[in-house]
Amino acid sequence: MAGNKTLTILKPDVVEQNAIGPVLTQITAHDFRIRAMRYTKLSDEQARGFYEIHKDKSFFENLIKFMTSGPVVLAILEKDNAVEDFRKLIGPTDSTKAEQGTIRHSYGTDIERNAVHGSDSDENAERECNFFFSYSERY
Ligand code: CMP
Repeated sequence: MAGNKTLTILKPDVVEQNAIGPVLTQITAHDFRIRAMRYTKLSDEQARGFYEIHKDKSFFENLIKFMTSGPVVLAILEKDNAVEDFRKLIGPTDSTKAEQGTIRHSYGTDIERNAVHGSDSDENAERECNFFFSYSERY
């Protein structure tokens, strides 16, 4: 059965564009409920830990540099079928391939500066939500 939560990060490019408000509006308009949220700047250690599965990829160092370049918004989103529905709303990893109406089409630039993160499976959603939020921070 599909899980009901996903972890999102509004990345430094969204914050730089002063677009936290419109992106959250779009997310909540699609019936996602915010169960936890934090405005923060990721440390190098946090970014490396969060993206550990990509540590051997060629793009890893650029990814860490970008994700620690400015503040981000972390949030746990809840909805039936959360992972899949959120990935539809944000569009594909490469922003240049994202369809009009998706968040990455509106706010992303390319495959590296792609505006938002969304968990890619229920298992990873669980890990990612636990990575950033304790249970006492969820409402
Ligand atoms: P995200 O959804 O945050 O998860 C992993 C990130 O790695 C992804 O978004 C992109 O920002 C980045 N990424 C994935 N694939 C590539 C790639 N081929 N080249 C550069 N960056 C990538």
